[in-house]
Amino acid sequence: MKRALCPGTFDPVTNGHLDVIERASSLFDEVVVGVALSAEKGDGPLFSLEERVGFIEGATSHLGNVRVRPFDGLLVEFAQETDATVIIKGLRAVTDFEREFQMAQLNYRLDKTIETMFIMSIPEYAYLSSSAVREIARHGGSVKGLVPDAVCEALASRLHQSR
Ligand code: PNS
Repeated sequence: MKRALCPGTFDPVTNGHLDVIERASSLFDEVVVGVALSAEKGDGPLFSLEERVGFIEGATSHLGNVRVRPFDGLLVEFAQETDATVIIKGLRAVTDFEREFQMAQLNYRLDKTIETMFIMSIPEYAYLSSSAVREIARHGGSVKGLVPDAVCEALASRLHQSR
């Protein structure tokens, strides 16, 4: 039984994240998507932890071996709690490498039994990020096709409220 953990802030989840989760689900017996509270990031996430979990649950409901769980604290401790032995991260362009390399090294130092593995982004999503999605939506641009439809609607109403 191989269980993988796909962690992230997912503020909000993009179709690039979902592509990585779906590909991980075909490689492992079970995938836990770990949604980090990440309260310390910038001004704090745009969407609450519950909303971020809900978007991913809605978009992965067709994948029988995927569970979505919130977490706060160290990633390796969450991996231990969920009995995941592999951490899966998506890798887009070279610009991701340095940060991911650092996190993988630090996580290895904290728990040598947990392996970090990377799934390369498909070209279509290589330049897609949650922050770019938020920025486009904030300026009234369309993010259709970049995020699930439910996220499109939530972005429109959240950013409309704050204008
Ligand atoms: O969506 P992100 O910003 O790439 O996700 C980063 C995340 C949540 C995976 C990372 O910040 C994380 O692992 N946070 C938990 C705290 C932790 O374990 N830090 C030590 C490893 S650097």
